Amino acid sequence: MWGSTHPKAIELGAKLIEITSGNFAHVYLGADGSEATETALKLARNFHRLSQSPRDRGRFKIISLKGSYHGLGFGGVSAAGSDELCSSFGPLLPGFISIEPPYCYRCPYRHEQYPDCGLECAEELDRVIRAEQPQTVAAFILEPVMGEHGVIAGPPEYYQRIGKICREHGMLLIADEVTTGFGRIGKWFASQD
Ligand SMILES: Cc1ncc(COP(=O)(O)O)c(C=O)c1O
Repeated sequence: MWGSTHPKAIELGAKLIEITSGNFAHVYLGADGSEATETALKLARNFHRLSQSPRDRGRFKIISLKGSYHGLGFGGVSAAGSDELCSSFGPLLPGFISIEPPYCYRCPYRHEQYPDCGLECAEELDRVIRAEQPQTVAAFILEPVMGEHGVIAGPPEYYQRIGKICREHGMLLIADEVTTGFGRIGKWFASQD
């Protein structure tokens, strides 16, 4: 609220910091999930824009999973990686790149089974970042469990690997927990471990 607040917002902010394992120091209270994802995408770019390192200030690209859902705004629609949305509302925002999801049941790379696949879906993230030039990439956004085209969760190692890849390339990982957060998968948040 442009620098002003009220006691209940402060209490809620403190509670959110508590239940997110103390990993965060700031909370942004938005009106809905779409505003949350738009804000996260903008913050990712702004985070790099404010970097100490001039090299990182040019990071703007956002990588996402094909078939994901990140809300109704142009950032979320651009991150959905959908040809249909592009033909309905395009041109979408520049700088958005989508890769195949960790969908073992219908593996986009036609592997028979995990782990014989060598986690190609995670390695593709690394390949795309390198091809795009790491210092241009701001963030990778994903739903920890995808919900738009079925309920799609990758193997645990997928999340460890993509976390490592994002750290190695100095970019942010945005967990869109609009459907998985607040206890809906049995713990507070899917991304907490
Ligand atoms: C993963 C995900 N992100 C973002 C949104 C957008 O949230 P909202 O409908 O509150 O704008 C949704 C909505 O279902 C969602 O499932």
